[in-house]
Amino acid sequence: MKIPFVKAPMIGNEEKYLLESFRSNFHGGNGPFTRKCHKFIEDYFGIGKVLMTTSCTDALEMAAFLVDADPGDEFIVPSYTFSSTANAFASRGLIPIYCDIRMDTLNIDENKIEGLITTKTKAIVPIHYAGVPAEMSHISSISKKYGIPVIEDAAQAVNSKYKGEFAGSLSDIGTFSFHATKSYSSGEGGALTLNRDSYFERAEYLWEKGTDRSLVVQGIQNKYSWVDYGSSFLPSDILASLLFGQLENIDLMQGIRKKVHDNYLKTFEAFADDGLKMTYVPEHIETNYHAFWLLFEKPQQRELFLKLSLSEQLNPYIGYIPLHSSPMGKRLGGDKFELPITDHVASSIARLPFYLMTDEELNFACKKFKEVLNIVFAKI
Ligand SMILES: Cc1ncc(COP(=O)(O)O)c(C=O)c1O
Repeated sequence: MKIPFVKAPMIGNEEKYLLESFRSNFHGGNGPFTRKCHKFIEDYFGIGKVLMTTSCTDALEMAAFLVDADPGDEFIVPSYTFSSTANAFASRGLIPIYCDIRMDTLNIDENKIEGLITTKTKAIVPIHYAGVPAEMSHISSISKKYGIPVIEDAAQAVNSKYKGEFAGSLSDIGTFSFHATKSYSSGEGGALTLNRDSYFERAEYLWEKGTDRSLVVQGIQNKYSWVDYGSSFLPSDILASLLFGQLENIDLMQGIRKKVHDNYLKTFEAFADDGLKMTYVPEHIETNYHAFWLLFEKPQQRELFLKLSLSEQLNPYIGYIPLHSSPMGKRLGGDKFELPITDHVASSIARLPFYLMTDEELNFACKKFKEVLNIVFAKI
């Protein structure tokens, strides 16, 4: 048996809606399924306004347009994240200021943010790593104190909760990913979530190539024209139909992921005395079970774990290359940041295969990972 790192999620309703969308002859953006997705996400997650996008990357780019900033201004971001989190702001001329992460959740260390704020700070961009939200109460209080907007990169946290409130509703702007590697997917896809009224109108202009077409759709005007910057951020309605089949079954899908999480936890907790750390969910958080990670004390243990796992047809993955030490990050001044926890995590973490696994796949993976870890800790 071969256990891949990820398989695109499928729950069964997708085909019905895909065919309906295909046969409707409406394949452009902002069609009936896009509007169903908007309504579902707004109502279910308690979000002010939602715009579906072709990716989380696009949603982050829209967020960077919405933030009131000039080239040379700064934004605070963890280095332990995907390129898109920083790229959206950096490509508009903002300078990334990297914040180290917490050792337990691997999220931005909220206690280190305030020390990085300058008069040029125009955005704070935490991510919710592995579906576990960052410490948003603390981050929101910093945001209020300094009047700096927070953009939560909730790419991995669709359907996660922090103190009873859903990710994406916890700050001024949020972004979701519906990429094939995520818990709910349209292959490529994302959403921008807006919780401040003042962003709503401009976001619509950005969404449709910098035009005020939204006013025509609402019957307010009879023609539209170029009124702002923007791009073609909206997805085909066919993609929205695929996603809608999954959103309708969101809790069913999450239940299957919980089973994977629970079985992994049971398997790996037995190695805690060997210094193995793993996905940690604080009490005030309800995770969506997006991912499961193992953190070794020594990089050599991680290397052996990856090598032996591969030889057993298991496919864990190394996680992020920190942005500050990546080629583009260095070009943007990343070298000057000292981020010891980020560096340690990057050298010693392994992300485990995680998807809607069958019982057979899950049992096989747990059994084999246990055998692999016994060898790793006997040797190193
Ligand atoms: C934290 C984070 N932000 C953004 C993205 C980009 O998402 P997308 O592929 O939908 O653009 C990812 C993708 O893995 C991610 O993990």
